[in-house]
Amino acid sequence: MCGIIGYMGKEDCIPQLLHALKIVEYRGYDSAGISCLDHGKLITIKTKGKIAKLETLLQHHPYHATIGIGHTRWATHGKPSTRNAHPHTYGHWSIIHNGIIENAHILKQECPEPFSSQTDSEVIAHLLEKNNHLRGIDCFRKVISQLQGTYAIAGLHEGEESMYVAKYKNPLYIAQNNESIMISSDLAVFYGKFYSYYCLEDHEIAMIQENSITFYNQQGKSIAKQSLTLQNVPQTISKGIYPYYMEKEIHEIPYVTQSTWQQFVEDENLLHNIPWQNYTCIHFIACGTAYHAGQMGAIYFEKYAHIPCKSSIASEFLYENTLFFPKTLYILISQSGETADTLSCCEKIKSHQCDTLAIVNVPHSRLSQIATYVLHTLCGPEMSVASTKVYTAQLTLLYLLATHIHIEQSIPIEQVQSILAFTDSITPIPSSFLPKIVSYKKILFVGKGEDYITAKEASLKFKEITYTHCLALPCGELKHGSLALIDADSLVIVICTKPNMIDKINTCMEEIKARNGHIWLVTNENKKKFAPFDAILSYPNWSTPLSAVTSIIPLQLLAYQTAVAKGLNPDQPRNLAKSVTVE
Ligand code: F6R
Repeated sequence: MCGIIGYMGKEDCIPQLLHALKIVEYRGYDSAGISCLDHGKLITIKTKGKIAKLETLLQHHPYHATIGIGHTRWATHGKPSTRNAHPHTYGHWSIIHNGIIENAHILKQECPEPFSSQTDSEVIAHLLEKNNHLRGIDCFRKVISQLQGTYAIAGLHEGEESMYVAKYKNPLYIAQNNESIMISSDLAVFYGKFYSYYCLEDHEIAMIQENSITFYNQQGKSIAKQSLTLQNVPQTISKGIYPYYMEKEIHEIPYVTQSTWQQFVEDENLLHNIPWQNYTCIHFIACGTAYHAGQMGAIYFEKYAHIPCKSSIASEFLYENTLFFPKTLYILISQSGETADTLSCCEKIKSHQCDTLAIVNVPHSRLSQIATYVLHTLCGPEMSVASTKVYTAQLTLLYLLATHIHIEQSIPIEQVQSILAFTDSITPIPSSFLPKIVSYKKILFVGKGEDYITAKEASLKFKEITYTHCLALPCGELKHGSLALIDADSLVIVICTKPNMIDKINTCMEEIKARNGHIWLVTNENKKKFAPFDAILSYPNWSTPLSAVTSIIPLQLLAYQTAVAKGLNPDQPRNLAKSVTVE
């Protein structure tokens, strides 16, 4: 949460910062700001609202600077406002921060001057100014050593062409080429400009000066660091022909399904490097959409690999009295690989000497560094806050693991090709559905087995981007209480992808109709087999047992098109951010 950016180079830093901020805007978009050194003088411009607003504001300020920092915020301490926006500038220092300073209230007592924001971060600028009599790096290091909590921080010091950065638990990357040095919370900023980068580790500090980066460890000793190669670099991050990333990412589902699968065809060791025979139980742990993928994974592993499974929401697992068994493999699923709850679970599991497998989308993310084993969904950057293509790639990968870990057979490439052949079958929901769906006061998503997990994911997606209250239930559970909600104002979206479930689904549909509820059916089965319904949503007819991938597509599109019809931006839903780096 919160995106941080820094630039030092030969060019004007403001366009560079704005361009990079737009790439990390998914991390938070409550407010934005930049600080730069214009002929050595510290200038800060910030505003409530999105980067576009900051961009307009900057057009009125013809600064010339080649060194600057930028921030896009997801509010934790203090509501979204210009005064709470970063950078926080005080005296000779300006800072940007991603994370939470847990001892801010204590540190503030050391700083007599009044604070101008309600944030935990501003105290960093005050402490730097208080210690300004020390040399730049010594001052920065002293202040960093006082902080408790989590942070990725960058600071500029007036009168000095240097940038200081530090990190603990939140990501911070640095890249360098002949022209410039950049810092960023996300590698995506470097694509197309840099070929290698440095990953700052916890407690490390870096001092960036013209053409040079000096790294220091926690003790203040300068250290050598190896740069890492930027792999699989997409040339640009753009919406292409689509108005929003979410629509583009839904249309990428066939490709990411294929690339995620193809890696195992090319290198079967990926599968066999994990000692599956050592484990008698699998425990899936994740948050939000990734948790739904974990729940689906538990169904797949029990069904195909015959291994008992459990799934937990990461923030709950942290406080459960779990009994740890070394014969359990803990599979942590995360798009970003940065989610604080999931990371803390990984650390807790490791402290009990148990093995973890991370399934992540972002290469070199923290989860991929701390887990025992790592597998990647190969989706490229997912820019929309609502996860779509990565969810389907997670399902694909889990299905592949579950079906192949105990069977010595090669990965059937034909299945993937059959999916790719249906790229064009992702078609929009007919527009006649949209005025109807916005008129319902209550929306329920129901299904059985795998389809119940799809119902949960569909409900999450719908509430997340349309701001509609909705609920997901297993079909058979309706009659145990929630049927009381059903009346003529209710829409129940019934998902059925399994022919052997049709009889039970029909009973549920009859119960809904008897209470005047409206039913939209999501199925690829013959509609004549079903009890009466009001409308049907079809999905791509891919001949694959991965019906959970195909059936979620119309539901993702339904949420997306409803949000657009309501005039909402589906890529940046209110109150949310893509990487949730606070517990
Ligand atoms: C919803 C969504 C979130 C994330 C959750 C975990 O569309 O994207 O529910 O799935 O915040 O994030 P990651 O996968 O990055 O750990």
